[in-house]
Amino acid sequence: MTIDVEREGGVQTLRFNRPDKKNAITAGMYEALAQAFEGGEWSDEVRVHLIAGTEGAFTAGNDLKDFLAAAQSGTHGDQALSFLRTLASIKKPLVAAVDGLAVGIGTTMLFHCDLVYASTAATFHTPFLDLGLLPEAASSLLMPRSIGHQRAFEMLCLGQKYDSERAYQAGFVNEVLPRDELEPYARQAALQLAGKPPKALALARALMRGSPDEVLARIQEEGALFADRINSPEARAAFEAFFERRPPDPSNKGAA
Ligand code: COA
Repeated sequence: MTIDVEREGGVQTLRFNRPDKKNAITAGMYEALAQAFEGGEWSDEVRVHLIAGTEGAFTAGNDLKDFLAAAQSGTHGDQALSFLRTLASIKKPLVAAVDGLAVGIGTTMLFHCDLVYASTAATFHTPFLDLGLLPEAASSLLMPRSIGHQRAFEMLCLGQKYDSERAYQAGFVNEVLPRDELEPYARQAALQLAGKPPKALALARALMRGSPDEVLARIQEEGALFADRINSPEARAAFEAFFERRPPDPSNKGAA
């Protein structure tokens, strides 16, 4: 299983478990994640979602083989978009425990979380532009809102990688912990939330997050542009460069 799901003490843990590929997310994994979130939303057994990866990798983002296949066939699977809609619509709190790599959606999904804990080894990187792509997961809306335009621009457009200290200072990480303390700490926070009166918690979260409509509309808008970009020569050249282990050609001379 590349997405593990466990329920205990009111906490549903979803874990990326494809360590040989740094937990890169395939179409099937998006489907499994969306199903697990939806199942947890409906179940009285679940009060809080917790998302985590494996040692050294939260996730390296969307599987670039899937992107390359989409670019080569002129199509784009809609599992990622459908997962993002689910992520933006959940009502129960979401806690993240991030160790190591958080690339692309591995970082942008954190702006849908309510508590984010990171290990000292965590890094946050959104290299969309270098891949000829665009910000997704409503990050073009949620990141400037959360960390300010300049920092969001630095991450999303300059492609600046943040370490966990910088992420903490920017305000999207609650605590930075040694790797072996990360998951117990995040779990404890999730269990603490699971012990709160559920109706009051749901209302407080809904008030703080506001209506999901704006976020869902932005996901849709970004998604349409993203699908075009995936099929662009620039993006195809960048995906091919990754699998040929060459640096992307910034001028994209080879992309025409
Ligand atoms: N999609 C598909 N495969 C991926 C992947 C991704 N996003 N990220 C890593 N992998 C695979 C590699 O191809 C490699 O597979 P192989 O062993 O069969 O060759 C394996 O995972 C290990 O990756 P590797 O690059 O050797 O590890 P690293 O520690 O040197 O570097 C990263 C890790 C994450 C920095 C690097 O793999 C990377 O830049 N990945 C792409 C990240 C990305 O652009 N994501 C999409 C954002 S929109």
